[in-house]
Amino acid sequence: KRVVLAYSGGLDTSVILKWLATEYQCEVVTFTADLGQGEELEPARAKAELMGVRPEYIFIDDLREEFVRDYVMPMMRSNALYEGLYLLGTSIARPLIAKRQIEIARQVGADAVSHGATGKGNDQVRFELGYYALAPDIRVIAPWREWDLTSRTRLIEYAEQHQIPVPKDKRGESPFSTDANLLHTSSEGKVLEDPWDEVPDYVYSRTDDPVTAPDVPEEITIDFERGDAVAVNGEGLSPATLLAKLNELGKRHGIGRLDLVENRFVGMKSRGMYETPGGTIYHLAHRGIEQITLDRGAMHLKDELAPRYAELIYNGLWFSPEREMLQAAIDHSQHKVSGTVRLKLFKGSVFVTGRRSPYSLYSEKVVTFEDDAGAYDQRDAAGFIKLNALRLRLLGRRDGL
Ligand code: ARG
Ligand code: SIN
Repeated sequence: KRVVLAYSGGLDTSVILKWLATEYQCEVVTFTADLGQGEELEPARAKAELMGVRPEYIFIDDLREEFVRDYVMPMMRSNALYEGLYLLGTSIARPLIAKRQIEIARQVGADAVSHGATGKGNDQVRFELGYYALAPDIRVIAPWREWDLTSRTRLIEYAEQHQIPVPKDKRGESPFSTDANLLHTSSEGKVLEDPWDEVPDYVYSRTDDPVTAPDVPEEITIDFERGDAVAVNGEGLSPATLLAKLNELGKRHGIGRLDLVENRFVGMKSRGMYETPGGTIYHLAHRGIEQITLDRGAMHLKDELAPRYAELIYNGLWFSPEREMLQAAIDHSQHKVSGTVRLKLFKGSVFVTGRRSPYSLYSEKVVTFEDDAGAYDQRDAAGFIKLNALRLRLLGRRDGL
């Protein structure tokens, strides 16, 4: 019996590793993904080895390009925001981790998979819906829903009993819980739990304080091709390096901080703080290029679909027929979403200052306040308004106005 564990190398998943081997008498295979969380992954290998995992059963994969190209960018085409604000940085990473975990399970002949998400959150749902969609008969073990290590103290005791190294800073209560990847860092819990208390400065890890950010705006350009960003300041970049570049620019200008109370899928409200520097710039730039390249009907329909799409991603339904249907429609809309957006970054804000495209639908000739040389006949508007007014006038007459 073999189980593939999504392993970060941290204290919690190390305890899970030992607990699985003991409680289930099974061989543990570890999988650690590099999604751009900005941590060294070799220590995770060393730690897994130290805990007795066979070297050929330690998987460490760099998934950064796949993450941005096949998950972040398709999502960005939709302009998805959960509850109007959240750019879904954690939500969009889970399906990829689940997919790779199932591939590894097949490769090593494992019959089970396991993760370190708690029984109170969204992540358990996202991981497990992914597992079941891709491997209907897989066995799932979620230790947080089963064990009795329900306090930090118990967890540390367990670690010490089983010779699991406990980093000094983990001995006390950890001040909050984080999840990070190339798109964002999220922080939740502990010092953030009272939604009235302001997020302390030390919680921010990847954006500079907008108050002390540069006093001069920085101007940049982003080129789009068929709905995806392909270059920054004229330099062509791969998906992951492009997002990393935008992160660097966003960090410097304090862009993408969000303090949010959101509705979790399991029913409770939770308060979190997100930092999505590059993603925030990307999102606004994408809207900028769509402004001139998308027809009104296509754009308004997209705007109706976006909250629906966002909810599917949030609720863990990436591998679902309805997400794929929406994706097909969204992708179809992007065929001519190509061109360049110019932006200014300044003290926590992003301003679109220009856009151009070979496929622009914007006609200066038609819109001008000056003489349009017959491009538009203003007399046509009289009938247009009159017919649109017809029902309003019938209503007004009936109601005695
Ligand atoms: N609330 C966010 C989501 O559901 C982030 C969850 C994980 N974050 C964390 N700090 N453990 O997408
Ligand atoms: C967790 O419960 O593991 C993190 C928070 C969440 O999944 O929503």
